[in-house]
Amino acid sequence: MEDEKSTILVTGGCGFIGSNFVRYLLQNRPGWKVINLDALTYAGNPANLAGLEDDPGYTFVHGDICDAGLLAEIFASHSINGVVHLAAESHVDRSIHGPMDFVRTNVEGTCRLLAAALKSWRRRGEPESFRFLHVSTDEVFGSLGPQGFFIESTAYDPSSPYSASKAAADHFVRAWHRTYGLPAIITNCSNNYGPYQFPEKLIPLMILNAAEGKQLPVYGDGSNVRDWLYVDDHCRALLLVLEKGRPGRTYAVGGGAEQTNLEVVRLICRLVDERLGRRPDQASQGLIRFVEDRPGHDLRYAIDSSRIRSELGWRPRHDFLSALGKTVDWYLDNPDWVESVRSGAYRNWIAANYGRRLAGEEEASGREP
Ligand code: NAD
Ligand code: DAU
Repeated sequence: MEDEKSTILVTGGCGFIGSNFVRYLLQNRPGWKVINLDALTYAGNPANLAGLEDDPGYTFVHGDICDAGLLAEIFASHSINGVVHLAAESHVDRSIHGPMDFVRTNVEGTCRLLAAALKSWRRRGEPESFRFLHVSTDEVFGSLGPQGFFIESTAYDPSSPYSASKAAADHFVRAWHRTYGLPAIITNCSNNYGPYQFPEKLIPLMILNAAEGKQLPVYGDGSNVRDWLYVDDHCRALLLVLEKGRPGRTYAVGGGAEQTNLEVVRLICRLVDERLGRRPDQASQGLIRFVEDRPGHDLRYAIDSSRIRSELGWRPRHDFLSALGKTVDWYLDNPDWVESVRSGAYRNWIAANYGRRLAGEEEASGREP
């Protein structure tokens, strides 16, 4: 990557990780330009980037990564020298009920983006500094037993329609590198948490439910393990890989913070109760309910991040308990954001401001199985 005056196309920049990454990039690389292409599905919220509207380094394009014409237009009108591809359908439970949206965005969308990036890269004389960074997940590796870790060479073994679609996308990214030479890199990271995460995912859902005295649905017996990565640590890893990662390489990124789901939910209860000054007899742990397990629920994810640590010098800077506390504070301090996401007010705002049918409202696909 060139370190000056880079122009980066970020896809999915209005989502959870995307919005954190766009802010991180603009703060840490003054002078760079960010083009954010986002379809504004239910998970994409322009309010996640409030305040950037007037930033001269920031351009928002409302559109779909499956739209080849739009992609061609974007690559033709900006000198893009890096792509950070985050746009995706990201929620496992939704993929179980409606897999086709996941095939469309995660597989077809990634291929359309690869094709557009390749065309532009060739037209510009195949600059060595160009990067296509595909942000993937540890879920492509399937499930671990009680021992061991995922590393970059772990065999793919996805369990859910979501992880299968991400695995397919990873294979296409590798194919575009090996077949056409596109300087592409893949990261596979563990579960992120932090501000602006849509409250369908475990941590924000439990924070908000605990705060509001609602039940806390724990799938199965709560013994499934995830390796939690604070989103800010992830953003730092992505920028490092974008600038210093080797084309064709994969980097596994984990938080080194394995917790069972039940441990996470109990911690959240404690943190929320402390903040709200609840008495012991009001403890929100009493709201925990063990509910029917997720079909195909992977038992354990854990990442050995040795490669990115030794080759690029990255390590997570946030410890789980204090970053979880910061996350709890953020959700309790931002009731307007929470309300707008839940009420759909932001969707009305999008409709009023962009005047187009929302991508998330297009015909409901799925529910086939
Ligand atoms: P998210 O669901 O919060 O955001 C996804 C964004 O993509 C939204 O802004 C949405 O509007 C946009 N989008 C969806 N379909 C689109 C399309 N067809 N065209 C353009 N934009 C579209 O997701 P997230 O949790 O921020 O995850 C971002 C990426 O990181 C995903 O690729 C996901 O697979 C990967 N990832 C996430 C995690 C995690 O813990 N959240 C962990 C590992 C990898
Ligand atoms: O590992 C990376 C992946 O992490 C990303 O690729 C995905 O995009 C992201 O959504 C996340 O997937 P998970 O399925 O692990 O995250 P989720 O927050 O949905 O669930 C975390 C764990 O908590 C999982 O074991 C299921 C459990 N769970 C989840 C919810 C929403 C519950 O027990 N109750 C719940 O209500």
